[in-house]
Amino acid sequence: MQPPLPPSLVDGKTFVVTGANIGLGFACAQSLVRDGATVIMACRNEGRARAAMDAIGTHARGSTRFYPLDLASLSSIERFADTLHANFDTIDGLCNNAGIMAVPRHETEDGFERQFGTNHLGHFALSLRLLPLLRASEGARVVTVTSLAHRAGIIDLEDLQGERRYRRWGAYAQSKLANLMFALEFDRRCARESLGVSSLAAHPGYSATGLVSPRASEGGPTWLSYLGVIGNSLVAQSATLGAQPILHAFRSHTARGGDFFGPDGWGEFAGQPSASIPSRRARDPGLAARLWERSEQLTGLSFPGCA
Ligand SMILES: NC(=O)c1ccc[n+]([C@@H]2O[C@H](COP(=O)([O-])OP(=O)(O)OC[C@H]3O[C@@H](n4cnc5c(N)ncnc54)[C@H](OP(=O)(O)O)[C@@H]3O)[C@@H](O)[C@H]2O)c1
Repeated sequence: MQPPLPPSLVDGKTFVVTGANIGLGFACAQSLVRDGATVIMACRNEGRARAAMDAIGTHARGSTRFYPLDLASLSSIERFADTLHANFDTIDGLCNNAGIMAVPRHETEDGFERQFGTNHLGHFALSLRLLPLLRASEGARVVTVTSLAHRAGIIDLEDLQGERRYRRWGAYAQSKLANLMFALEFDRRCARESLGVSSLAAHPGYSATGLVSPRASEGGPTWLSYLGVIGNSLVAQSATLGAQPILHAFRSHTARGGDFFGPDGWGEFAGQPSASIPSRRARDPGLAARLWERSEQLTGLSFPGCA
C-alpha cells in the first residue's frame, strides 16, 4: 500500500506574487490558484492586474486579491505592506518575481538606478516589511527569481547605482546577482535568528515573456527587443514551463532554505526543475553581508526589527 501523500504546501495557503499580471508571475499565480491558494496580486497597474485576475478566475479554494505595489517606490512598498498587515494575520509564501531588464539608465523616485532599485532593493524592502507576517505562518517560504545572467554579474560596491559608468546589461546582471545573494543571505539570517522562514531562489532559464520589450515608462523597446521577440518565438520555452522551478521551490517537500532551482536541460535554458548551482560570487558570504548592509542603509530598513 502506498504511504499517504504529505499535505499540500499550497492548498489553503496565502501567497504574494509580485508582477503577477503577466509572464512568469502570471503563470505562477495561475498555478497556485488552481492548487487552492489565495494569491495576492502585487502589481503596479490595476487594469493589468484585474485583467489577469479575470483570466485566472477562481478554482476550488483558490482565489486572487489585488493590492497595488510599485517596487520602484519605497513608499508604495510601505503602503502595500501596511495594507497586508491590516488585512492578513499570516502570509505563507512570497514570490519576489517582478523585474525589468536592460533598460536605459533612469532613477526610481528614491534616486536608485532603476534595475537595481526595482529588481533588488524593491524586493529587499518588501521581504523585510512582510517578515512579521511570514514569521506568523508555520514554514513560510520566500522564493526570489534570479537569472542565468547572475553568472555575469559583478556587485560594484563603489558604484552600485551605475553613476560613474552605466551598462544596461551589466546593471541587469548585477541586479540578478543581488537577487540571488539576497535569497541566500536572507536564509542564513532567518536561520541564525530561528525565525522559521526559509528563503530559496529559482531561475526560469529562457522563457518567452514580455521582459525583452520594456514598457515606455522603462525606456521602451530597442532594436535588441526585436531580436528578443524573435528569440522568444524560436528558442525560448513557454512561461508556464519557465515558472516550474519557482513553483517547485514552493511546492517541494524536500526543498530547503538556501536551495536554488532552474531547468535541467542543456545550459539550463529549458527543461524540468532541478537543483542549480549559484556562481562563485553568489556564494561569497562576505560580499553578501556587505551588500546586505548597503541595502539596509539605502532602504532605511533593518533585519529583523522592522514593522
Ligand atoms: N523571461 C526570461 O527568460 C527570464 C530569464 C531570467 C530571469 N527572468 C526573471 O523573471 C522575472 C519575471 O520576468 P518575466 O520574464 O515574467 O517578464 P515580464 O513578462 O516582463 O513581467 C515582468 C513583471 O514585472 C512587473 N514589474 C516591472 N516593474 C515593476 C515595478 N516597478 N513594480 C511592480 N511590478 C513591476 C511587470 O509589471 P507591468 O506588466 O506593469 O510592466 C510584470 O508584471 C524577472 O525578475 C526576470 O528578471 C526572466
